[in-house]
Amino acid sequence: MKENNHQIKTIGVLTGGGDCPGLNAVIRAVVKTANQYDYSVIGIRNGWKGIVDGDVEPLTDFSVTGILPKGGTILGTSRTNPFKDEGHVQQMLTNLKRFGIDALVAIGGDDTLSVAARLHEMEIPVIGIPKTIDNDISCTDYTFGFDTAVSIVTDAIDRLHTTAESHHRIMVLEVMGRHAGWIATISGIAGGADQILIPEVPFDIEEVCEGLRSRFNRGKKFSIVVIAEGAKPINRDDFVTISGKVDEFGHEQLGGIGQILGREIENRLNAETRVTVLGHVQRGGSPTAHDRVLATRYGVTAIQEIHRGNFGKMVALQGDHIVPVPITDAIHQKKVDMDLYNMAKIFF
Ligand code: F6P
Repeated sequence: MKENNHQIKTIGVLTGGGDCPGLNAVIRAVVKTANQYDYSVIGIRNGWKGIVDGDVEPLTDFSVTGILPKGGTILGTSRTNPFKDEGHVQQMLTNLKRFGIDALVAIGGDDTLSVAARLHEMEIPVIGIPKTIDNDISCTDYTFGFDTAVSIVTDAIDRLHTTAESHHRIMVLEVMGRHAGWIATISGIAGGADQILIPEVPFDIEEVCEGLRSRFNRGKKFSIVVIAEGAKPINRDDFVTISGKVDEFGHEQLGGIGQILGREIENRLNAETRVTVLGHVQRGGSPTAHDRVLATRYGVTAIQEIHRGNFGKMVALQGDHIVPVPITDAIHQKKVDMDLYNMAKIFF
């Protein structure tokens, strides 16, 4: 057993925002590493909502047995923003005291981490862990969950290829990626997509069709187009959204750009076109080995940083190392590297 730094006895852990494969691997690593330091761990259910409502459970070595390969999060999650309501902030502070939570591990994307940053400003000891299949958090090379999503999308592109080729069709695949097109770019390269459209680069529909036409004229009678849900045509400022619903952080529920693009392509090229929306399939199921290891390293390092008293930090992957970086530096969107995107265009 390692020496306790005596300031901390109990650590709270929560998972916020959209779920992703690897969350349970982090929770397991947090609990097992905390136990080594003799800290007890309290699981907060359903993201920030759990600490507002006082909905918590003790997490022991026993509670985390067997969860490493499981998708989702045993704690549940939500997109609750406690700072939307001053009363909720007070309830949160009261509950942190009530449950004796001395330090918090917040596992989430930019929204969850922006709440963590505000708590740090209020001198609540907090450490963040970067989670999102979108891979759009700054200061870290990768978030966990991204690799799993990429392997699911790549598999989908492979499957679309065989049917596209048989039917001589154009297949449009809409994938996740609100502000950053990492999933579309990396999976598109891995799957050999013929066009990749991302939020960072507004697309000209005529140029897209010209690319597909030129492929057809070269004798390639089918094509695969991968489009991120947050991609926009050059003449449009707003996101395409079907439901019009907005979450507590002000984000619209996206979806529908794939259908719009598919219709345009079919009309302009007079080529049979089909649209697939992969949706939450990308976020489900068991994490890849890469994500399990990354998630585990994040969980272990988060507790080590708590033991050092190094708060207000997010653990980040930089090269081969997991390092602490200020949460405030990390909560800026990490966009797709244009060198990489331009390389992908060589294959269009
Ligand atoms: O977590 C990020 C993300 O996967 C985005 O790419 C997507 O727009 C959003 O979550 C979908 O969220 P929800 O699960 O609330 O539909």
